[in-house]
Formats: sequence, structure tokens, C-alpha cells
Amino acid sequence: MKAVSLSNQKGGVGKTTMVTNLGTSFAKRGKRVLLIDLDPQHTMSNIMGMSEMENGLPELLLKKCGIEDCIYKWDPPTDYLRNKYAGLPLYILPTSESLNLLDYDFYGVSKKEGLLIIRSLLERIGEMGEYDIALLDLEPGLSIFTRNGLAASDYVLVPIHPDSVTVDATALMLSWVHYMEEKAGRKLDVLGLLVNEFNTRSRVHNDAKDYLLKQKHIKVYRPFIKSSTLFYNSQSSKMPAVIYEPWHQGSRDLEKLALEVLKDVT
Ligand SMILES: Nc1ncnc2c1ncn2[C@@H]1O[C@H](COP(=O)(O)OP(=O)(O)O)[C@@H](O)[C@H]1O
Ligand SMILES: [Mg+2]
Repeated sequence: MKAVSLSNQKGGVGKTTMVTNLGTSFAKRGKRVLLIDLDPQHTMSNIMGMSEMENGLPELLLKKCGIEDCIYKWDPPTDYLRNKYAGLPLYILPTSESLNLLDYDFYGVSKKEGLLIIRSLLERIGEMGEYDIALLDLEPGLSIFTRNGLAASDYVLVPIHPDSVTVDATALMLSWVHYMEEKAGRKLDVLGLLVNEFNTRSRVHNDAKDYLLKQKHIKVYRPFIKSSTLFYNSQSSKMPAVIYEPWHQGSRDLEKLALEVLKDVT
């Protein structure tokens, strides 16, 4: 099982949107996918209709339940979709606010062990042999959960908005990833940048696009995902865009993007 973190210290750039849509696209291509919510705000769990589950990541970390008790097969919100996607190999390990109460426990063990709590959990899940890819939804900032997520990952994808402030902040993000790589003593490959909320009519966005496509030191995935109400609407209906409106241009772009990413996750 390969673990891929979606990370950026900035909020609102599309980490959660990418986790749900890329994960679903991978599953549509037959990959057995596990989405893991490491953000105590649990937006991903909400979108996937899993915020009210009895057991989740906090209960697992507190040993109140076993791994099998807190991983759920995605259950689409309508009968039609339940039927259509019955065989979709998409699984979710949800979380809740109570994850926040646990950060103390992470600090309670030695510094090194505290950083590797999620890694040892993923090793146990990996040994079950039931998933090909785990996608980790990380919160903004560099909390203990974010550091744990990075330390548990083989790869990182960095969603960004195409403006100069975000592009500058990305350099910081990359140096942080390298620092974590050292601390965790494990290779962490930054696969590349996922450009989100691109507005074709914005001069700032087009300038950022020219700049990004000239970059040699980091891969910039294509296509860029355009700004669209599709994402807000699909999330309000508690499903990923690629399920909600598969024929929408935004969903088709995401499916193409997923295929490009999948080529690199080996
Ligand atoms: N391409 C897009 N176009 C328009 N809105 C988007 C797009 N991608 C994400 N959003 C919206 O932006 C908000 C933040 O996205 P989200 O994925 O939650 O960011 P993050 O997880 O990085 O904080 C959400 O309301 C989401 O619906
Ligand atoms: Mg998020």
C-alpha cells in the first residue's frame, strides 16, 4: 500500500477536494483506495457522509476499537448511486473533533515515537493487504497530525492556487517536506503541484501559469482544475464531484489529473 499525503500549510487550496475526487477516480479505475481523515475539522468525513460514525481515527488511536471497526466502505447517499457504485473499492477512515483532544497523547511519548504514530498504524493497515493506495487528508498548518501524516507517507501532492503568494509559499512547503523527510528517516517524494481554482480570465492566474510551467525543479500536473461551483455543489450533496456530475468539465479534468497522478504512484 502506497501512502500519499495531500498537504499545504495554507487552508482552502483544495486538499480535501482533491482527496475525495482523486481517491474516487482511482477507485473507479479499480484501485483499492483508503481515504484517511487527519484533519480534526473532519471536512472529508463530512463530505463522504461519515461524520457520525461511532468509531473513527480517535477511537482507533485510543484502542477503543480495532482497525476493521473504523474503516467503512463508502456508502453513496442515494439508492441509484448505491446501486451504480456497489462495487467501487473506496473506503474511509473518518475522524471527529475529538482528534484534537489526542494531540497531548502524541506528545506524551518520546519525540521520535510521537512522530511515527500514524506511520505504525499505516504499517498495520498495509499488512492487511486490502488497499493499494491510502490518501491522507491533512489540515493546514504544521500540527503534530500533519507532521505524522507526512512522516507516514511515500508521496506528497501539493494543491495550490495559481497566484504569486501561494506560489511563493510553496517553496516554504517544500523545504518543510525535506526537513520532515530527515526527521522521519524515510524517503518522502514530492510528486508535484496540483493547480486548483484556475480562472482562465485572470491575468494573475495566467502569469502564475506561465511561471509554473517554466519550473524545472518540480512537476506541475496538468490539467489545471478550473474554478467552478461544481465543487461546492457536490460537497453540499455529500459526494465527490466525479460522482455528482461525472460529465461536467471539472470532473473530466479531475479524472484526467487522477490518471496522471496514478502513473507516478507505483
Ligand atoms: N476548483 C474549485 N472551484 C471552486 N471552488 C473550489 C474548487 N476546489 C475547491 N473549492 C472549494 O473551496 C473550498 C476549500 O476547498 P478544500 O478542498 O476544503 O480546501 P482545503 O482542504 O485545502 O482547506 C471548499 O468550499 C471547496 O468546495
Ligand atoms: Mg481540508
